[in-house]
Amino acid sequence: MMKTTQSTLLKMYENSEKFTVLTCYDALFATILEDAGVDVLLVGDSMGNVLHGESTTLSVTLADMTYHTRCVARGSNKAFIMTDMPFGTFQVSPELAFKNACKLIAAGAHMVKIEGGHIMAETIKFLTQRGIPVCAHIGLTPQSIHQLGGYKLQGADTITAKQLSQDAKILEKAGANMLLMEMVPAKLAKKITQSVSIPTIGIGAGVDCSAQVLVLHDMLGLYQGKKARFVKDFMADANNIQEAITNYVLAVKAGQFPNQEHEF
Ligand code: KIV
Repeated sequence: MMKTTQSTLLKMYENSEKFTVLTCYDALFATILEDAGVDVLLVGDSMGNVLHGESTTLSVTLADMTYHTRCVARGSNKAFIMTDMPFGTFQVSPELAFKNACKLIAAGAHMVKIEGGHIMAETIKFLTQRGIPVCAHIGLTPQSIHQLGGYKLQGADTITAKQLSQDAKILEKAGANMLLMEMVPAKLAKKITQSVSIPTIGIGAGVDCSAQVLVLHDMLGLYQGKKARFVKDFMADANNIQEAITNYVLAVKAGQFPNQEHEF
C-alpha cells in the first residue's frame, strides 16, 4: 500500500485534485477513514470538545495530543497524519515550539498544525527549516476564542480581510507547507487560495480551497444543539459510517461539498 506523503498531496494540488481531511482521534477510526479514502487524518485539538466534553479546546495538553497521535498512527497504514499543537505549547518561543513539535512527530505525526497569523511566522520558519512540516491555521482560530469573542466569521470586513490575505502570504513565505482557513467568506478564501502556491484546506471557507476538512463527529451527525452552517451530516443519507465517509470523500473530490448552503 502506497503511503500518502507530503509529495503525494502536493502532486494532487498541482493536478487540481482536491484532497480530503477529517479529524481522527483513535486507531479504529484511523483504519475506517483511510479505508474509505480519506487522505489526511487530523488529530485535532477539537478532541477537547468532542471527546473531553469541554466547551473550548484550551485545556487540551501536549500529553493528550501525543497519546491520540500514537493511537491514530497505530491504526493507520497509508494516510498522512497532521496533529494540532495545543494551546500554550508553541506561542512562547520557536525553540519551545520545536521541542514540543518533536514529541508529536515522534508519536507519528507527519505535520503539525499551528493556529495564528503573521505572529507565528518566525516559529513556522524555525520548525520548517529544521525538518518539521507545518500547516498554518488562520481565520477562526479556536485557541483565541476569548480574544475573538466567540465562534464567528472572520475576515468579513475590508480591514480584517486584508489582514488575512497578508497573513497568508507571510506564512507561506515563512515556509508553511499548507494553510487551513476556518470560517472565512468563500470569496476571500478563493482569493487567498489563488494568491498562494501552497494547498489550502477549508472548513466553512467555501468550495474553492484545495482541500476540505470537517470534524468527524459533526459529519457523522453526532453533535448537540444546532448544526453549524458549514457542517453537512453525511449519516443522514447513509446506511453506515463507512458509507457516510465514502460519500464525504466523493463529494469533496467532485467539488460538490461544500455548496452554497454551507458557505458564508
Ligand atoms: O481541531 C480541529 O478539529 C481543527 C479543525 C476545526 C480544523 O482544527
